[in-house]
Amino acid sequence: MPIEIHIDGEPCAAEADELLASVLLRQPVPIFRKHPVDGSPRAAFCMMGVCFECLVEIDGVPNQQACVVKVRDGMQINRGLS
Ligand code: FES
Repeated sequence: MPIEIHIDGEPCAAEADELLASVLLRQPVPIFRKHPVDGSPRAAFCMMGVCFECLVEIDGVPNQQACVVKVRDGMQINRGLS
């Protein structure tokens, strides 16, 4: 069932119960966050909750693992890229 989430304030179509990391990897710029020390782009790597490369802010809560979270209608994602 199609749903809508928002990524950095922009609407994005997704399927109910798919993993958030899958949605983010489909984006034109598949970057999940910037490294806090050197600002290098980071993205999901292990896709099983081990590497912590997929951290994003979800509904105002920082440092959530996108690879273990299923999308919900209206979910707000902030990648902090700007
Ligand atoms: S991709 Fe490795 S913890 Fe999410």
